[in-house]
Amino acid sequence: HRHLISLEDWTREELEFFLGQADYMEELMNRPIKKVPALRGKMIVNFFFESSTRTRVSFELAEKMLSADVVNWSTSGSSVSKGETMRDTAWTLEAMGADAVVIRHSAVGAADYLARKLHRASVFNAGDGTNGHPTQALLDLHAARRRFGKLEGKRMAIVGDVLHSRVARSDIQAFSKMGVEVVLSGPRTLMPLYHNELGAAYEPDPKKAVAGADMVYLLRIQKERQEEGLIPSIDEYHRRYGATEELVALADANAVVMHPGPINREVEIASSVADGDRSIILKQVRSGVAVRMALLYLCLGGVRN
Ligand code: CP
Repeated sequence: HRHLISLEDWTREELEFFLGQADYMEELMNRPIKKVPALRGKMIVNFFFESSTRTRVSFELAEKMLSADVVNWSTSGSSVSKGETMRDTAWTLEAMGADAVVIRHSAVGAADYLARKLHRASVFNAGDGTNGHPTQALLDLHAARRRFGKLEGKRMAIVGDVLHSRVARSDIQAFSKMGVEVVLSGPRTLMPLYHNELGAAYEPDPKKAVAGADMVYLLRIQKERQEEGLIPSIDEYHRRYGATEELVALADANAVVMHPGPINREVEIASSVADGDRSIILKQVRSGVAVRMALLYLCLGGVRN
């Protein structure tokens, strides 16, 4: 693969191979000297039109650990404020020698569009609107597999604002391919009508969705993408759909609690659960660096070139 736009076309075998590469990268992260010369001479642009902490910083760390030259572009201070388009900006960066562009954008299809327009640079989707966030799904798989070993036959409950969640779309795709049964829960107003097409069932009662689950995956209420009135009051939301200790106690005894971050404490997740024994939220973050190293290495490094 030259680009990563979506995991739609990835087979289970490809996911397994990829996760093995990410395991190797995590071993590198544990070494006292982490940097390796795999991408020396490659120039990678982090092209972020939307805010990000985890994705942007972990891509940057992964790029630096593989010795690539890194340019962090952001809309503020760029010539986009003078009316330059995304395509012209990307062509400009490619003309300066970019070998890869990591793009986050609020528009669905932005990464796919860029991959069609660029002449030789790789494009990595770091989140396109409400559509997809494939590297998040890869890191979620990696963190879950490190805990459980095998994912086949496990159950995952995804609870929250599925309607606006690119993470949910990518996770349903990726976890289903690995043989995980995914059930969605949350207010009907935050559920896409086509959840069946996504390959997941909908259970309106979060208690039933979470009962016996191996993974309880909370989604952030995306205030920036909400129209007025889609959710009950924050207190009511927390009482009914939030990951409280009582809700999580219904899951399997060995269940893990996951969240892509950033978290809204005491909204979709109680602080005691986010910081509790079952939470692997910070392990997900660490997997994010290993997974992005594996992606960059496989697409830009030894294997393809
Ligand atoms: N999970 C995630 O994408 O977080 P950021 O928005 O901070 O990158």
